[in-house]
Amino acid sequence: MVYQIYPRSFAAEGVGGEAGVGTLEGVRRHLDHLVWLGVDALWLSPFFRSPMADFGYDVSDHCDVDPIFGTLADFDRLLADAHDRGLRVLIDWVANHTSDRHPWFVDSRSSRQSAHRRWYLWRDPSPGGGPPNNWRAAFGQDVPAWTLDPATGQYYLHLFLPEQPDVDWSHRPLVEAMHDVLRFWLDRGVDGFRADAIHAIGKDPALADEPETLVGQPRSSTNDHPSTHELLREVRTLVDSYPDQRVMVGEVYLLETAKVAPYYGEGDELHLAFNFPPLYTPWEATAWRTRLEEVERHFVEVDAWPTWVLGNHDNPRPRTRYDSEARARAAAFLLLGLQGTPFLYAGDELGLEDAVIAPEQAVDPGGRDGCRAPIPWDASPDHGWARPPWLPWPPQAETRNVEVQRRDAGSILHLYRRLLAARRASPALSLGGSTILDHAPEGVLAWARDTPQDQRVVAVNFTGAARALSPGEGWAVEVSSDGHGEGEPWTGQLGADQAVVLRP
Ligand code: NOJ
Repeated sequence: MVYQIYPRSFAAEGVGGEAGVGTLEGVRRHLDHLVWLGVDALWLSPFFRSPMADFGYDVSDHCDVDPIFGTLADFDRLLADAHDRGLRVLIDWVANHTSDRHPWFVDSRSSRQSAHRRWYLWRDPSPGGGPPNNWRAAFGQDVPAWTLDPATGQYYLHLFLPEQPDVDWSHRPLVEAMHDVLRFWLDRGVDGFRADAIHAIGKDPALADEPETLVGQPRSSTNDHPSTHELLREVRTLVDSYPDQRVMVGEVYLLETAKVAPYYGEGDELHLAFNFPPLYTPWEATAWRTRLEEVERHFVEVDAWPTWVLGNHDNPRPRTRYDSEARARAAAFLLLGLQGTPFLYAGDELGLEDAVIAPEQAVDPGGRDGCRAPIPWDASPDHGWARPPWLPWPPQAETRNVEVQRRDAGSILHLYRRLLAARRASPALSLGGSTILDHAPEGVLAWARDTPQDQRVVAVNFTGAARALSPGEGWAVEVSSDGHGEGEPWTGQLGADQAVVLRP
């Protein structure tokens, strides 16, 4: 299981750091807690130098730590201490764009003849004036993906904010520079990367208009050009040239599973890719069954190892989307109970809800502040943060915090811990295939996990009423979302919104 840390919001400890923003030292000081929870690997969202227009996804120096998070020495200490505890560390690699303050872009925009001009995508206005094509940027309503730079009279492309100009991956010096970024961190010992918006790096050289059916959609969710695959093969060769199984996990933000799977290539592109359709699926058994079948068909059948993501720093938390703690608990069985690698967003294991953000507190141009609320570590008024944090607390932080939940064996935090322990101990749960059980009653999704020597059944009741579930004789409850009946024979009754792992 990979645990996603959004450094700004995790823990603000140690020296350095802007008031109320988490630090790398804060992460380091909580490693033992993550080991206690059962985490295998961390993914750290960006901590690189950045003007923070997109809170770190606008990088102005890929090879240094922003002073608000600490120093490179802090990173090295964090990495060493994580490795000492058997934790692997993945970091973000923002490869599709840089900050507009990155020296490459500062030079690029300085003149049409500058050395870095070709490192970004500059185009003349369209013949009638205005942006070169109809592509739309992410964030905001119907915003062009092009901004005119009056000094040189050309537009530059940005699939995200104007402060995040897209780099040109068809230009070899840029490719080499991005490879050097990977080498810098691989040489330092990182175990891999989460590659931001990686499906978008290859662009149609003609920059043709978006077709009629996609007009108005952000280009960042439709850009799917074949050249990306060749670029990823090179990246894979680079990453695989390092020892100890380094890994490249791609954020392939194409919202159809069938379109994500090709980014695994023939085992020669990404090692893993996020598959977002489940995250956007309503709390409904038949809808989830469809998602599972898609993963089976498009991933498992072509030997692409699946991933599962139910929360991250870009989306409302599961507890908020599914609207009850019982469902947030049951969702943990979807995240951790299916074949594939789960990515758990820090705080989802506490059942945190999104913070309520008053208009004057909003800071993110993409409206994602709620899920980025700081982690409450204890029940004190400052919840373990020395200074008031950069965003408001999530609801009920006086009880929904690490300290209180660690003391309470019935908490969702302990549920996550038991599930992770069960997963680690069971070859079927960690490696086995998933087979949907057809005899489950309406509103229940149940599946078998199997290896030749080991079996489990996982079942989730998506309804607010009890349901009968009879997977056959001789099953006992290993983990239950409400904690009831664990270690006892299976009664055949799944409670409202309940989920279970059964063992023979
Ligand atoms: C995806 C990241 O998850 C998101 O936070 C960011 O705004 C965009 N990519 C642009 O880097």
